[in-house]
Amino acid sequence: MKVPTTTIPLVAALVANASARDPITLNLTGHIDPSQVMSFVYVPFEVESGVTSIYVLQNYSMKGQGNALDLGVFDQRGYQMMDAANNTFGSRGWSGGFRNNFTITPSAATPGYNPGPISPGTWNVALGPYSSVPEGIDWQLNIVMGFDPVDEYFSPTFAQVDFDTVGQFDQDEWLRGDFHMHTVHSDGKYTPNQQIENALSQNLSFIFFSDHNTDTSNNIIGAYQAALAPNLLICRAIEVTTRHGHWQAAGLEREQLIDWRYQLNDDPGFEAATKQVHRAGGFVSVNHPYAACPACNWGFDNWDHNDAIEVWNANWDPTDQQAVQKWHDLLVAGKFTTAIGGSDSHSPPSLNGIPTTVVNARGRKQAAIVTAVKNARAYVVEGPGLSLSFHLQMTGGVTAQIGDKVKGGSLGAQAVLSTEGMSGQKACFISEKGYFYNTTITTGRLIQEHLPAHLKFVRVEVRNSTDDSMLGLINPIWFLS
Ligand SMILES: *[C@@H]1O[C@H](CO)[C@@H](O)[C@H](O)[C@H]1NC(C)=O
Ligand SMILES: *[C@@H]1O[C@H](CO)[C@@H](O)[C@H](O)[C@H]1NC(C)=O
Ligand SMILES: *[C@@H]1O[C@H](CO)[C@@H](O)[C@H](O)[C@H]1NC(C)=O
Ligand SMILES: *[C@@H]1O[C@H](CO)[C@@H](O)[C@H](O)[C@H]1NC(C)=O
Ligand SMILES: *[C@@H]1O[C@H](CO)[C@@H](O)[C@H](O)[C@H]1NC(C)=O
Ligand SMILES: *[C@@H]1O[C@H](CO)[C@@H](O)[C@H](O)[C@H]1NC(C)=O
Repeated sequence: MKVPTTTIPLVAALVANASARDPITLNLTGHIDPSQVMSFVYVPFEVESGVTSIYVLQNYSMKGQGNALDLGVFDQRGYQMMDAANNTFGSRGWSGGFRNNFTITPSAATPGYNPGPISPGTWNVALGPYSSVPEGIDWQLNIVMGFDPVDEYFSPTFAQVDFDTVGQFDQDEWLRGDFHMHTVHSDGKYTPNQQIENALSQNLSFIFFSDHNTDTSNNIIGAYQAALAPNLLICRAIEVTTRHGHWQAAGLEREQLIDWRYQLNDDPGFEAATKQVHRAGGFVSVNHPYAACPACNWGFDNWDHNDAIEVWNANWDPTDQQAVQKWHDLLVAGKFTTAIGGSDSHSPPSLNGIPTTVVNARGRKQAAIVTAVKNARAYVVEGPGLSLSFHLQMTGGVTAQIGDKVKGGSLGAQAVLSTEGMSGQKACFISEKGYFYNTTITTGRLIQEHLPAHLKFVRVEVRNSTDDSMLGLINPIWFLS
């Protein structure tokens, strides 16, 4: 549950009105030992009745010279871990290492922080040491609490996540989209409206805003959607940015937050957090599992609670190849895990839709995109202008589509691939035994191949014939005995 934002608490308004008080200023200092890196430190401060604005300015030693200290805040609801049994979650905003100050008022807040009523009690600034010199981190917090009268309260404008209002899109349709992007609401330079414009120029039908550990972009996007892109489905996600890797909580409810502060073996921890996503009808994806930055790569070494893996993050590189290999190993082990892509676009010149994930959804709505991902009805291409189509023609006239689990063996099935924008490149058919058929794509030609016997699954990659980089990747069709 989040703070109510639509009703005006009369008492608070009167108190604010009556008290023309001077602001309260607190200057707090402390020291963080290098042993505390990758944990969280909470700095409590008292918020009196009548406070209507909170400003926090952070400063610390050796900033950018070996020390890095993330910033966020928990309100009077407390900073206890959210767990599967308890949705009480006091996070009131997070900016990681991107900002050194924030303001929260009932009507507005710094992006990444949730505006709304300011309730009295003990609040906590959250400090997240990310790296430290041997001497540790000396920090200062300058906190200013004001008592200005309140004349306006924030009210969220959520995007429409269901265009299927009268069932007019109740049919299977391939939709092009991007599951992973950032805005100024976390560490991006793109504003939400710029990301919408990028999505339109990339011919995407759906996008997921996925700022780090905050929902504030999801809470203001409705007005932009209505004005700029009434046909663009803008779905809700958060990139849950833990100290042991990043994962995508996608297809969330309104104002749903997900905890990110567990360590590897905490219980409740990662698993409990994924349950909350699933309970809300969303999907869980491990992001860029082999990314080469501290705490960005996947440390949980737990692949039992995710529906998908982001095997292709932004421009193709060797860490994506590692992710594809891991995904393949999981498929071989019999895990039905979906491969998806994500642009992770933050700032120019990076663009969303690089790569593009194309999903076969029934209905233009967030719930249908989530279902398509969970059922692996998806493929990934490098970007706009590239498309793939793949199916199996089974004996007896049955057709199997991407993501299907068909009964009976692979012998006699004919795999049929067609491509758009990939002439001259290399198409590869792959099973649990590895690559078994490669061919060069020529314009207008269907690629058809009879499958050998006893396959567990068949999937397809399209590789650049010059440098072997990925151009397209299709989720498998399975043969169940
Ligand atoms: C509240 O403040 C407004 C101006 O901000 C003033 O007009 C009004 O008289 C005040 N009401 C009370 C009860 O103090
Ligand atoms: C707190 O620090 C600020 C900025 O460094 C300074 O202007 C202010 O006087 C200090 N306030 C107190 C109460 O020490
Ligand atoms: C920030 O902290 C550093 C190191 O503690 C100090 O040298 C510097 O003066 C501080 N800056 C401000 C604006 O207080
Ligand atoms: C949930 O957390 C709140 C705040 O700490 C606490 O008061 C409450 O007892 C907890 N409920 C459960 C079921 O753990
Ligand atoms: C507060 O943050 C903004 C950016 O969010 C920055 O422009 C400004 O300089 C910061 N203020 C201080 C006093 O550092
Ligand atoms: C988007 O689609 C339009 C119309 O089909 C096409 O002209 C344009 O080139 C496409 N944009 C991209 C980036 O492929």
